Amino acid sequence: MYFTAARFYFLIFDYMKTVILRINPKAPEPRLIRQAAAYLQQDELVAFPTETVYGLGANALSPKAIRKIFKAKRRPSDNPLIIHIADTKQLYALVKLVPPSAEKLIRKFWPGPLTMVLKKSDIVPSEISAGLNTVAVRLPRHQIARSLIRECGFPLAAPSANSSGKPSPTDAAHVVYDLKNRIACVIDGGPTLVGLESTVIDMTRKVPVILRPGKVSQQEIETVIGKVNLHSVVSANKKINSAKSPGMKYRHYAPKAELKIIHGNPKAVEKIIRSIVQHSSAKNIAVLVTDRARFFANVSNVYIGSSAHQIAKNLFRVLRHMDDKKIELILIESLPEDGLGLAVMNRLKKAAGFNIINAR
Ligand code: TXA
Ligand code: MG
Repeated sequence: MYFTAARFYFLIFDYMKTVILRINPKAPEPRLIRQAAAYLQQDELVAFPTETVYGLGANALSPKAIRKIFKAKRRPSDNPLIIHIADTKQLYALVKLVPPSAEKLIRKFWPGPLTMVLKKSDIVPSEISAGLNTVAVRLPRHQIARSLIRECGFPLAAPSANSSGKPSPTDAAHVVYDLKNRIACVIDGGPTLVGLESTVIDMTRKVPVILRPGKVSQQEIETVIGKVNLHSVVSANKKINSAKSPGMKYRHYAPKAELKIIHGNPKAVEKIIRSIVQHSSAKNIAVLVTDRARFFANVSNVYIGSSAHQIAKNLFRVLRHMDDKKIELILIESLPEDGLGLAVMNRLKKAAGFNIINAR
């Protein structure tokens, strides 16, 4: 009875036909950008591509619109959102202070996949920052994202456009799969370039702290502003609950299958994988291979790329594909945790629920 009533409520109040707009990522058509912006101006949600992953946008200055994001994604309300701007000038209204080190990072990395956490100003609704006194801001490089924000005339709050807990969407089809008929519009601008979410750095500390690793690495940041720290959860090999960035505590990117990361020298890793495959009771097993020359019998061999750059780009798409293929067990070799490799391993460990096997 309760279930029927809940369904009925959903049908009456939440169902909407999602409009899909195909827009040229290199030269966004102004007419289509205006159409998408009109939804946002009416406090509706629009998913759009950025250079990292697809975002689920809402007017960042409208609490009503922001609440719709949490509802559509089924996102816990204590996980704060990133505000996306089209021009550096928009930053100054959103924050109390831009320290000189942040100015340096802006000059070097914006537009691009770097998000900065700063002290928030009073115009930022508390729904965005989940009650914290800080706000995360980023200026994306993608032409569609920037044209859309410019056309709206206000900044856009945008988490990744997946349903909470699933891998972030790197293609419009992933957004449609997760959020169809729950949001007003999806802009299809093709696959995203980077494939992993932006680097998040807390600039409110004396020594800035990287809260989430991404395409912009610790080394690149340090060449611009000197020493920065990595938050302990970034490279942790087990789950750590953190109050600082509440988003860090939620299960993420998880495929339906069990996922195991095998760590060690290549020979030992290969031996362990063969042994796991031999003894597992799982019917459908996939090995995500990073070396085309390697082949494992009796399993799906899925090539995921040989460089951290390629793996970053393919990872979330491949994890979603594993669900489609009804894979029950996924095995993947660990990567060196430097540069983009640190970001890839951070996502992989979360997806695996820190299921890591040391091969000797
Ligand atoms: O690449 C990206 O950053 C994508 C695209 C769409 O721009 N967005 C994205 O948003 O990944 P989301 O909501 O999936 O991740 C935002 C991350 C979360 O880990 C959240 O906890 C953290 O940023 N965050 C947001 N505001 C914060 C704050 N005030 N303090 C600390 N962490 C914050
Ligand atoms: Mg996300």
